[in-house]
Amino acid sequence: MKQVYLDTFGCQMNVADTDRMELILFHSGYQRTLEKEDADLILVNTCSIREKAEQKTFSLFGGLKPLKTANPDLILGLTGCLGQQEGKKLLQRMPYLDFVMGPDQVEGIAQAVDQVRNTGKPFVWTGFDQEKIYSIPELAGDLPKSPGPSAFVNIIKGCDKFCTFCIVPFTRGREKSREPEELFDEVRHLVNRGAKEIILLGQNVNSYGKRGLKNPMPFHELLYGVAEIPGVERLRFTTSHPNDFTRETIRAYRDLDILMNHLHLPVQSGNNQVLKAMRRDHTIEEYKGLLAELKSEVPDMSLSTDIIVGFPGETDEAFEDTMKFMEEVGYSSSYMFAYSPRPGTPANELPDSVPDETKKRRLQEVISLQHKQSEKLGQSFLGKNVEVLIEGRSSKPDYIYKGRNPQYWNVNIQGEEGTIKVGDTVTVQVENITGHSLNGTTRCGAGVQ
Ligand code: 5AD
Ligand code: SF4
Repeated sequence: MKQVYLDTFGCQMNVADTDRMELILFHSGYQRTLEKEDADLILVNTCSIREKAEQKTFSLFGGLKPLKTANPDLILGLTGCLGQQEGKKLLQRMPYLDFVMGPDQVEGIAQAVDQVRNTGKPFVWTGFDQEKIYSIPELAGDLPKSPGPSAFVNIIKGCDKFCTFCIVPFTRGREKSREPEELFDEVRHLVNRGAKEIILLGQNVNSYGKRGLKNPMPFHELLYGVAEIPGVERLRFTTSHPNDFTRETIRAYRDLDILMNHLHLPVQSGNNQVLKAMRRDHTIEEYKGLLAELKSEVPDMSLSTDIIVGFPGETDEAFEDTMKFMEEVGYSSSYMFAYSPRPGTPANELPDSVPDETKKRRLQEVISLQHKQSEKLGQSFLGKNVEVLIEGRSSKPDYIYKGRNPQYWNVNIQGEEGTIKVGDTVTVQVENITGHSLNGTTRCGAGVQ
């Protein structure tokens, strides 16, 4: 078999796209290698959400150039959001590239590779086919690898929100949902191959079913549908936009035992003026109202969020509002970013940019606040038993396995080697906390289900 080396930057959607390309290429006679030097084909699935991700891509390609010089038969492809965004500029900047593809062309990866082999000419393949339905057909036959205990399932792609800072609506196009039957089939298929937890995936999952389906179907109905599939032990979804989050979805948390009590609900800022300039289309009071409703139905719900600091026009007071809001909510974890101007987005044209030094300082402040809060929240688990789905080996010295509890905390587990295995759900007594990890012991397979 020929060898393909795959590298991925960015979000979970990109990881899922890379997995898809691996599967399609496997059916065309490629197997994945972890050594660039052994590869006949190298694909880098890129991200353009912040400038840093772009810089990392360029430096990675700088390192790949000598491989191509030494072996002209090696095929080098750049896929993903940077490909969609920059197109042929990338071929000009990196003439040793064989092709550039956007995220909407994932299904065509084998054709792209054939085209290079047949013509030897570099090309760009980007854009969106508005008419095409969003389908990820199952490929019959062998798989390159089994799913892990926790498996992602893409339910919707694209985003129609156009937050002013964000490149995603331009790189991933308009929202399109996959047919529920296709999703249910994929979930059955994953569960039959060992998956226990299903994480429904999309840029804005709560908008599921509005566009692209034969018959519109609201997101909460999909949740109830997946929950009925035998073998699904845990269900999660990500990412959510507050404006599409419905009362029915809150009820689903209450009704469905397998829907885990964790919600990732990006707020981005705690200040109304900044939220307006970001075009988030809700106020902080509305967001709080949603959380209050959620907590009244599901008291032990844990929350995580995304925060951007240093958005144009963010004053010291506005930043303090974000700090206060984070304290008030008590997120279990946050993804925190310094605003990165993206060419082509409306925020890029806004005045009053915040100096880099200020952005850096504010970022450090939110990070250390979040750290303290995670530690504090973690303490509430001390001495308690938590249910953990074992996902793999722990990288923490003296701990054997790692997994997640329902509230999506990492859990490192001590225990006797051989008494538990990946995919089991075990009860772990929490003994100490480090950052966003709970560490504890399970005794001789006690609690193994
Ligand atoms: N700068 C900084 N962070 C950004 N995000 C999206 N665009 C930008 C940007 N231009 C963050 C948002 C979003 C997460 C996926 O990435 O917080 O929710
Ligand atoms: Fe970007 Fe906003 Fe869409 Fe999220 S909701 S992907 S931040 S445009």
